[in-house]
Amino acid sequence: MSADPPWWARAAVYQIYLRSFQDSDGDGVGDLDGARSRLPDLADLGIDTVWLSPVHPSPDRDFGYDVADYDDVAAVYGGTPALRRFVDVAHDLGLRVLLDGVFNHTSDQHAWFRSSRSQPDGPHGDWYHWHDGPHPPNNWASTFGGPAWTHDPTSGRLYLHSFAPEQPDLNWANPDVQQAIFDNLAHWFDFGIDGFRLDVFNNYAKHPQLADNPWRTDLLGRVARFIYPFLAQDHIHDRDRPELAHLLARMRAIADSADRPLVLVGETLDERFEYDRAATWCGPDRLHLAFHFRWLHTRWSAPDFHAAIRDQLAAFGGGLTPTWVLGNHDFPRLATRWGAGRHTDARMRLVPLLQLGLPGMAVVYQGDELGTPEARIPRKQIQDPPGKRFWPLYRGRDGCRTPMAWDAHPHGAFTTGTPWLPLHPDHPTRNVAVQRARPGSIWSTYRAMLHLRRTHPALVEGQVTLPLSPSAAVVTYLRHTSRQAVRVVANLSSKEVSWRLPRGEVATGTLLTTGFCASSARSITLGPYAGAVVEVDQP
Ligand code: NOJ
Repeated sequence: MSADPPWWARAAVYQIYLRSFQDSDGDGVGDLDGARSRLPDLADLGIDTVWLSPVHPSPDRDFGYDVADYDDVAAVYGGTPALRRFVDVAHDLGLRVLLDGVFNHTSDQHAWFRSSRSQPDGPHGDWYHWHDGPHPPNNWASTFGGPAWTHDPTSGRLYLHSFAPEQPDLNWANPDVQQAIFDNLAHWFDFGIDGFRLDVFNNYAKHPQLADNPWRTDLLGRVARFIYPFLAQDHIHDRDRPELAHLLARMRAIADSADRPLVLVGETLDERFEYDRAATWCGPDRLHLAFHFRWLHTRWSAPDFHAAIRDQLAAFGGGLTPTWVLGNHDFPRLATRWGAGRHTDARMRLVPLLQLGLPGMAVVYQGDELGTPEARIPRKQIQDPPGKRFWPLYRGRDGCRTPMAWDAHPHGAFTTGTPWLPLHPDHPTRNVAVQRARPGSIWSTYRAMLHLRRTHPALVEGQVTLPLSPSAAVVTYLRHTSRQAVRVVANLSSKEVSWRLPRGEVATGTLLTTGFCASSARSITLGPYAGAVVEVDQP
């Protein structure tokens, strides 16, 4: 990586799931004034960018990912004045703000869709994908289950929705649709935001004749076809279409025309974790960066972690910037995926060492810095539509969306009212106040590592080198410039290991440790799940 990377290429992003972050008015739902009051906590933690989950008015059939008006901010979050205050305070604290741009689909309550369904020959008639029926024009399946086509009683026709029926897909082939979205990007850039996370960007463009997707013939495909057809298809006609390239180029040109450096980071819809495909949509005439989910099928094992890091560095080589996303509001919590009973906290303390020392954009999902586990939400309280639909096979995404626990007050001081989702039962002991007061806590380890990431040139702009082959227990990488070298070593096993530095390398100082560590110039002894960040001299 070249010296002096742009801000987004080394950003430490914190994902605020707004409904669950901080309520300011006692209605049980997080809001922008509440989130603003917590920005100093985030600055203190050491992050430099916040990504806000969708803020626009929405009937919340998919909690904000069904947008009813792209120009406005939902009253429940405080409206546009509250976003103004939020962005201003963030900027005063030196934090950048990303909005969530949900442009593959709108809500069925959006004025565009209402107009489209009631006036097929009107100004919005062709803004969505309509079919006269009676049968769907192709075999496409919804990510949320069942077919991707639903009959609309108002118009008597079928319309396409890659997600819930309340989320009709926009017809991106229509230049008026493109212009409306491009104008909206420009509008929020003018407002002062610093970039967008683009929800399922690789879904925008569809095959011009809406051709059938091929069915997968492997075992998974054959089984899934009858239960969850979305997983049984190769999404070659409703996803990652070549037509997408010029749409991304236009979006990039809008971002690049601003008087300050902005960022577009796409979220790749990618149930098979094809991170290398995400990389193909990044570059100077397309997205700056893309999120993908390589880490979500990475088991807690040193060889698996080594491979995940190696694969991403390879896919995002050649001048592209990797992103390190370990969790978000759609997947079971990190602490539950990678936890191991009483060792869970020790493992979670290793995560910031492994994640935040790597080059590129790192993303921390709210609550993961506390090691919050997945919550089990009783059936009656389930809010997430896929959870309601597939219960008990799938309980939905509520378990990773429980409200933030700030201190030992009722409901973790998230709200004075009744929270829209219960907090994780751990919250009286697992909260920000408790962990801030303990130097060795998960939160404190994130804070220490975020601080090193900002202050050590090797971690800011250094090259990264991995060992050629993985070890059974230890994950390690070196970041180095001509002036400084920093090595991260993490023992992922439950046994003590003694690890020798590579030939010629000498440890000159310890920057951070978690768990039991004893180091000499040439070797480091690491207790179970212990890790160290050390400064080294190289030959
Ligand atoms: C990805 C979002 O992260 C998820 O929460 C949402 O349901 C889908 N996109 C549809 O917008």
